[in-house]
Amino acid sequence: MPNRILVALDTTDTDQATALATSLDGLVGGVKLGLEFVSANGPGGVRAVTGTGQPLFLDLKFHDIPNTVAAAVRSVVPLQPTILNVHASGGMAMMEAARDAAQETARAHGIPVPLVIAVTVLTSLDDADLAAVGQRNPAEGQAVRLAELAKDAGLDGVVCSPKEILAIRKACGPDFKLVVPGIRPLWSVTGDQKRFSSPASAIKDGADYLVIGRPITAADDPAEAAERIAEELKGL
Ligand code: C5P
Repeated sequence: MPNRILVALDTTDTDQATALATSLDGLVGGVKLGLEFVSANGPGGVRAVTGTGQPLFLDLKFHDIPNTVAAAVRSVVPLQPTILNVHASGGMAMMEAARDAAQETARAHGIPVPLVIAVTVLTSLDDADLAAVGQRNPAEGQAVRLAELAKDAGLDGVVCSPKEILAIRKACGPDFKLVVPGIRPLWSVTGDQKRFSSPASAIKDGADYLVIGRPITAADDPAEAAERIAEELKGL
């Protein structure tokens, strides 16, 4: 992996995603494909984009009963994601089922076991939104609690906002992987991200991977934007 940048290819267009992945090959650590792309293009679309051999973060945020999540994990592991994810709020048994399914399927196919990580609290939810669904804890405390649950379930890490890195790192230790979206270089427009950090400050706080979309994909020259961010991270 040349660096810790995972570029979010948020599009329904396979040609566009493939062209971006190709132009960024060697400049980023991997690509992220999520619900938008996979709902439109399925596993065939994923294979087309990852034909370059770049590491894949498959961001499908599974959340269902343990049996169904395990079956979904078994279906996607042959796509050879480096990272896949589930919702921590699906509970301990669901996360354990996801982890076991990932390990068993990878072994059966003779491929590397993906990192299985958990989404804690969506950053689109504020404390009032959480209260409205009966969740009385403030968002940050809830994120730490769910990260600890994910760790206890044997998962490899979590997706978290830049503002939660320090608290989760402290609670879950140095080996727990923190995958962090909401990243904006100081020279880019912020778009709809409200709680963002610069790439360097997120890495200094303890992020393992940075999920970066529009600052790269919407730049006039995506390769140049990726190089510029990678340059800012050198030596950190
Ligand atoms: O374009 P931008 O850099 O904002 O893209 C960030 C990516 O990270 C998007 O794919 C978005 O869905 C994802 N994400 C996020 N905040 C979260 C979880 C995921 O922005 N809490």
